[in-house]
Amino acid sequence: MKFVEDIGIDLGTATFLIYMKNRGLVLQEPSVIAMARDTKEVMAVGEEAYRMLGRTPGNIVAVRPIKDGVIADDALTEKMIEMFMSKVRTGPNKLFGFKPQLMIGVPSGVTDVEKRAVLRAAINSSARRAYLIEEPLAAAIGAGLAIAEPVGSMIVDIGGGSTDIAVISLGGIVVSESLRIAGNEFDESIIRYVRRKENLMIGDRTAEEIKVKIGAAMITSEEDILTAEVRGRDLVNGLPKTITLTTEDIVEALSEPVTRIVEGVKRVLETTPPELVSDIIDRGIVMTGGGSLLRQFDELLRQQTGIPVAVAENAIEAVAIGTGMALEMIPILRHALISSDNYLRR
Ligand SMILES: Nc1ncnc2c1ncn2[C@@H]1O[C@H](COP(=O)(O)OP(=O)(O)OP(=O)(O)O)[C@@H](O)[C@H]1O
Ligand SMILES: [Mg+2]
Repeated sequence: MKFVEDIGIDLGTATFLIYMKNRGLVLQEPSVIAMARDTKEVMAVGEEAYRMLGRTPGNIVAVRPIKDGVIADDALTEKMIEMFMSKVRTGPNKLFGFKPQLMIGVPSGVTDVEKRAVLRAAINSSARRAYLIEEPLAAAIGAGLAIAEPVGSMIVDIGGGSTDIAVISLGGIVVSESLRIAGNEFDESIIRYVRRKENLMIGDRTAEEIKVKIGAAMITSEEDILTAEVRGRDLVNGLPKTITLTTEDIVEALSEPVTRIVEGVKRVLETTPPELVSDIIDRGIVMTGGGSLLRQFDELLRQQTGIPVAVAENAIEAVAIGTGMALEMIPILRHALISSDNYLRR
């Protein structure tokens, strides 16, 4: 089985990533699939399907099979894994139909039913064996933390659908919490704010663009304040209207979800054994996931916890890289992994 290239997958709400040992990150596309409404025939996946979101004629639907960090549709998730895998598998692997091992990152706190659904999807999409690894553990490995040692590390992974907060030591998760508040919720908060304050209706993608362009978790100096023109529909007369928003608006719009994440981090710290807290104070908290790129989020977390905070250099890819690296660390991680071999029999 020398030719078989094992594969690491980050099955994200927003983004699907595939990491292969010898080739690095080989795929990074939106977790979206488009199909015919009546026949359920798949029309497109990834980038191509993403462009169809919200713009499909009646007979085509573009959907995200993973919502809020959980599997919303088994069959479509399976199809998506299968299609993305066949995109990246080439040469003898594809030709001879070698079956790889998969390491798949799942949010901490997924249910047994969901775990089985993902494992089954992996096996059905031609894996020889599949392992599940909790996303924060994969994120910690991918961010380069020394997770195998008897020292505490804290990871805060803010994705699209969920925020995973975890303290890791000796190759396993000691304390963790998973919140269904992350990037998508930020977008929705912006939509609600703009509707309330300006009577303006804006779409998901516009909200996300504003967040990335001018958003922040707090303002530390005048230079942080940016502005953006935003187009939407006036709720009073139904006509298109353009307004200007500032970073201050977005800080206000995001204050609730951001605060809930900060509170989650504090709760996890409160239930962490004292020796590990002391390690975390020395080594700092590491943030990963696209949501951690919101400006000044690290600064806010630093001020609120009194602990140093760093955003991982590879924040968006950390989970995917970690799943790939985990394939080489199976003996160390054995207690933390779930394998299709023992989980699917029965
Ligand atoms: N520069 C940025 N500033 C703020 N938010 C950002 C930035 N870049 C990406 N994001 C947000 O990050 C989120 C996606 O992050 P990520 O790719 O880590 O999610 P995911 O792994 O697919 O989701 P999950 O882990 O919840 O399943 C989106 O909500 C996106 O808007
Ligand atoms: Mg993620």
